[in-house]
Amino acid sequence: MARNSSYSFLYLLFSPLIWITSKVYSILPTTDILIIVEALEYMFNNLQVFLFSLVGYDLKFISYDHGSVLITGASSAIGGSVAIQLAEQGYTVFAGVNALPDAHRLKTFISPKNHHRLIPLLLDVTNQNHIQHAVQTVLHNFSQAPERERQLVGIINCVGMPFDGPLETISAQDWTHILQVNTVGPFAVISAFMDLLRESRGRVINLSSANTMIASPIHGVYSASKQALENATHTLRNEVFRFGISVSLIIYGAVDTSSNFSRPIVETKRNSTNFTPKQETLYKPLVKSVSIIDKETKEHTVEASVATRAIVHALTSETPKSRYLVGIDSKLTRLFGWVFSDRVLDLAYQVLVNQSAQ
Ligand SMILES: *[C@@H]1O[C@H](CO)[C@@H](O)[C@H](O)[C@H]1NC(C)=O
Ligand SMILES: *[C@@H]1O[C@H](CO)[C@@H](O)[C@H](O)[C@H]1NC(C)=O
Ligand SMILES: *[C@@H]1O[C@H](CO)[C@@H](O)[C@H](O)[C@H]1NC(C)=O
Ligand SMILES: *[C@@H]1O[C@H](CO)[C@@H](O)[C@H](O)[C@H]1NC(C)=O
Ligand SMILES: *[C@@H]1O[C@H](CO)[C@@H](O)[C@H](O)[C@H]1NC(C)=O
Ligand SMILES: *[C@@H]1O[C@H](CO)[C@@H](O)[C@H](O)[C@H]1NC(C)=O
Repeated sequence: MARNSSYSFLYLLFSPLIWITSKVYSILPTTDILIIVEALEYMFNNLQVFLFSLVGYDLKFISYDHGSVLITGASSAIGGSVAIQLAEQGYTVFAGVNALPDAHRLKTFISPKNHHRLIPLLLDVTNQNHIQHAVQTVLHNFSQAPERERQLVGIINCVGMPFDGPLETISAQDWTHILQVNTVGPFAVISAFMDLLRESRGRVINLSSANTMIASPIHGVYSASKQALENATHTLRNEVFRFGISVSLIIYGAVDTSSNFSRPIVETKRNSTNFTPKQETLYKPLVKSVSIIDKETKEHTVEASVATRAIVHALTSETPKSRYLVGIDSKLTRLFGWVFSDRVLDLAYQVLVNQSAQ
């Protein structure tokens, strides 16, 4: 396997493990390794649930193979791929998007017999009116639907806005906006639908990015907004467990976001724009290095279907996990966070930045 600079970062940090991983990679394709690792994780999770059941604690949740699902950010690659798959499996999918044509494009990827199962919703999560309208749309559908379809099986928060820029250059306005979209908005949606979720004992699934586990430069605002979301998600899990609602967090690493049904990430990604000339000069090398690192990372992605698989498991399994780390990179990142000190990780990042600057 080619050893480019992002891999030498990994080598530096965890060379023995990477050595083993690369050996395994050379024998098996990545997807097979992932399937094996996932199977082990699910086994461990089920074992845990089983052991708890022996001492009288029931950690299983109701699972539905029908009903309705609300997806925010359905025009993203992961959101869209989940929407298509769930509609094909017979769920009614309320696909929240920022522009309705995105949802209509999604529809064309669903087989004609399931077309009617995807219901487009204009849902900007920062807009209270949109959220209220979404609740009304779902309630209206339930009032007309046969009894067995009248369950809100889950809410899947795929909404999120990447934002790049050194922290020094982020205006208060940008900070507020990012937190609104990535943290406050998803929370507002869940609150608005909580009664329906309680009735059905449905699920909450939030997406976050492995970026938040390592303090990588330039991605600070995004990271902070997702970290806030992650923390709130863990708390929510404990708050609503008593209602039979399962809450799972999906933490994805580098996922292939190119698809024919979603908006390209470059369209949704934003950069800080209020650099002073001095900041421009000071940060230019760093911004450039990080964008090279990001580009390299994008060459080692897993297919969006790997993320979809985790989401569908979180939605439908009797024994959903509390967190899913999607892709080898996101699993390793977690491990690094446990094993290495801040200083070691910082140093590794600096070496990496310096390398890509050459
Ligand atoms: C409700 O959702 C179903 C898809 O499962 C759709 O066929 C039906 O037309 C919807 N009803 C209303 C009133 O929106
Ligand atoms: C996840 O859901 C919880 C529960 O409502 C919410 O507090 C949190 O903000 C959500 N996080 C994300 C990233 O959607
Ligand atoms: C909240 O986030 C911090 C920082 O990542 C972490 O150390 C802490 O364990 C989290 N708390 C919960 C309840 O998830
Ligand atoms: C997009 O569509 C083209 C042509 O239909 C196809 O060759 C390509 O594989 C598709 N890409 C994805 C990511 O589905
Ligand atoms: C954002 O910054 C990256 C480098 O970090 C650059 O490649 C990209 O073109 C910028 N995008 C916009 C919209 O300015
Ligand atoms: C990275 O490069 C800068 C500037 O050239 C240098 O000062 C610093 O020591 C280097 N850091 C590492 C960890 O190599």
